[in-house]
Amino acid sequence: MSEVTLRPAHQAPSAPTLDMSTRLGSVTFPNPVFTASGCAAAGQELDQFFDISELGAIVTKSIMLAPRSGRATPRMAETPSGMLNSIGLQGPGIDAFLDKDLAWLASRGARTVVSIAGGSVEDYAKLTTKLRGRPGLAMIEVNISCPNVEDRGQVFACDPAAAASVISAVKRAAPTGVPVFAKLSPDVTDIASIARACVDAGADGLSVINTLLGMVIDTDTMRPALGGVTGGLSGPAIRPVAVRCVWQIRQALPDIPILGMGGIRTGLDALEFVLAGANAVSVGTTVFGDPRAPIRVLDELARALSDRGFERFEDAIGLAHKPPVLYVPEDPDPIGDEPAVVFHPSVAFEGDG
Ligand code: FUM
Repeated sequence: MSEVTLRPAHQAPSAPTLDMSTRLGSVTFPNPVFTASGCAAAGQELDQFFDISELGAIVTKSIMLAPRSGRATPRMAETPSGMLNSIGLQGPGIDAFLDKDLAWLASRGARTVVSIAGGSVEDYAKLTTKLRGRPGLAMIEVNISCPNVEDRGQVFACDPAAAASVISAVKRAAPTGVPVFAKLSPDVTDIASIARACVDAGADGLSVINTLLGMVIDTDTMRPALGGVTGGLSGPAIRPVAVRCVWQIRQALPDIPILGMGGIRTGLDALEFVLAGANAVSVGTTVFGDPRAPIRVLDELARALSDRGFERFEDAIGLAHKPPVLYVPEDPDPIGDEPAVVFHPSVAFEGDG
């Protein structure tokens, strides 16, 4: 990050001068708020509530090679401040997805991040090959971290070597100029080492985080609440875990783009991820209760940045890693005691380009 000059937030510019664009690898997005994979299908339902092309991007539900019906029902359970899902990667398969969903997204002018999931390295390579030359494809998110698979050996993101072999196969098959992001699992001891293995294998960035493996038991039936027994925990309950993961990866890999997600409901939640080091954010579970949430979060994030004196979104990325800013208020009595030096939380910085 370049040199900054400090000024108090009350001198903040008005919102229209705020540049919300963000760069992920070789692609610049007009703003940093995306949907989250699995929470908005391919965007058609959300488009009834707002113009989906106004978001930075739509991240699609992970798609596999063949159509798939998913896991046994029930597939969802409520949890305190969260939700458990056990969908099992239900979907129409890549060919139907390309003809129907991706084509529709392109016709709407949406930038699309296609999430792919496979049971083997070869599956991922084949899926990626099918994405070549497709209009509207802005980025590929490689879902190597779905917890709802037959065995933990298929959670490639829990093992650095397995994660790396998927990512290098995808990179070899990926269209030129389309960034490849690896989606990581928080269910590991050292997420930064998995992140590093993916980057060494060619990942252009990292999506952080997928859901945490969880379980609910129904105390009436006295059996697991989900047909699949375990599921992925999402929603505000996981936000501190997600922010911690973004923070650790930003510390370990200062220059790698991060798409942060996990329980974002408001612009201030999104700002927390950005300050931890996210270059963009995905809004997920909250859309089930508030379908306008992604566009609302975008407005709230822009306002929060403007209120704090930012002129460019990108100047806020990773700011929490810098030492706290000391603000010296104007001394009303220059002859008297030394002015107090206080931490002023509303002091922001002004990027110099
Ligand atoms: O079960 C599912 O379809 C979830 C996928 C994921 O969390 O990656």
